[in-house]
Amino acid sequence: MEYITFEHDSRAEQLIGQAYDTPPLAYVHSYGCQQNVNDGERIKGVLVDIGYGLCDKPEDADLILFNTCAVREHAEQRVFGNVGALKGLKEKKPGLIIGLCGCMANQAHVVEKLRKSYPYVDLVFGVDGIDTLPQLICRKLEQHKRVLLDPAQRPVIVENLPIRRESEFRAWLPIMYGCDNFCTYCIVPYVRGREKSRRPADILAEFRGLVEAGYKEITLLGQNVNSYGKGLEEQIDFADLLNLLCSVPGDYHIRFMTSHPKDASRKLIDTIAAQPRICKHLHLPVQCGSNRILQQMNRRYTVEQYLDLIEYARARVPGITFSSDIIVGFPGETEEDFCQTLELIQKVGYMQLFTFIYSKREGTKAALLPDPTPRKEKTDRMERLLKTQDAIAMELVKAQVGQTVRVLVEGYGRLEGTLSGRLDNNLTVEFAADPVLLGQYAQVKLTGARATVLLGELAG
Ligand code: 5AD
Ligand code: SF4
Repeated sequence: MEYITFEHDSRAEQLIGQAYDTPPLAYVHSYGCQQNVNDGERIKGVLVDIGYGLCDKPEDADLILFNTCAVREHAEQRVFGNVGALKGLKEKKPGLIIGLCGCMANQAHVVEKLRKSYPYVDLVFGVDGIDTLPQLICRKLEQHKRVLLDPAQRPVIVENLPIRRESEFRAWLPIMYGCDNFCTYCIVPYVRGREKSRRPADILAEFRGLVEAGYKEITLLGQNVNSYGKGLEEQIDFADLLNLLCSVPGDYHIRFMTSHPKDASRKLIDTIAAQPRICKHLHLPVQCGSNRILQQMNRRYTVEQYLDLIEYARARVPGITFSSDIIVGFPGETEEDFCQTLELIQKVGYMQLFTFIYSKREGTKAALLPDPTPRKEKTDRMERLLKTQDAIAMELVKAQVGQTVRVLVEGYGRLEGTLSGRLDNNLTVEFAADPVLLGQYAQVKLTGARATVLLGELAG
């Protein structure tokens, strides 16, 4: 693994300065997961570094960049639809540069399709190419030719990329990239490549900077944070990293995602128990409640092992809450398999579920499996899942009423004059308060609940 440091590209800045009468504007839109959102923040940082301004509307832009997601087919179709809709804009404004990057750009068949059928797309580069963006724009401006890069994995980590964060009090902090797990349904290992961990000193430096800048919530990101540390010179695992970061003084809390259950160690749970700055919430995607399907998914744990882990966490961390991802309708999932999923979610009692109907991804192992279940059957199962989960969550949320808790005030509530805040356990509460509290911690008494949102009032 090679670690390189991003450096300002003054040649690109100069060239862009000469190419436009006034500073050009860039519109960057990110789809998908938090990792992608954070990549989008760094793309914006790199663009600003070479002289671009940022804008919120594609019509105002000189450069439009879609930072894409490939995890489900629906996401891909949306991107192709949105790219298609730009054709007219390009005709009106021939100098407009249209680009596509992120996970979709790491699939050869997508690049091929863009090359053949979307002649007005000028720029394509993959997830590892953010630092090369200044050179790619230069190439486009100097040679007036399309710059469409074929997918390639780079065994490098680029540190020091400039960043334009979307929030002033909540920050994403990647600790590792890629995934080695090859769950059979998942495209991520193919598009994001092998796992690579950032060096602890680099993570610590970015973390310190965030705390010093006043960030209150720092969410550590990785496809599987629990395997952090593989391949590093230092002997360090994810729990060690958490302990290291918690030694930074300041007023903040830490979240992290995603934890693969097979790698979530007792040591990690003990660390959550011991460190008051780590939120008492674990996103622990189970995907399915049937051992037969879990095996076909290559998840490498059983329902029993998963439940043991949940039990251990509940015993060690009083009040801990859980959330999960569930895939409905994996190839060959029977009614019985699905009922086992319903049973499991009832046993665990998740605060939140992120639910997905299985989406076939070309190139993955599951794409080769027979999938006889009709679509209608899958959507029916999804409805039953959501209904079951709603009832579970409403009960859990109601049980919180009466407590007084610290929340981070994140935004506006749905009723006028209210703000919304997030509890340590990831639930949301709405309460009447002055917007000066945005981005601050507040003590809130939980007085009631509307569906899965708590209602409260400022305390003290
Ligand atoms: N189909 C449906 N859901 C998927 N996920 C990943 N790949 C697929 C797929 N092919 C879901 C998993 C994962 C989440 C990020 O997306 O539940 O945990
Ligand atoms: Fe995909 Fe599995 Fe890796 Fe998550 S752990 S990114 S689901 S392969």
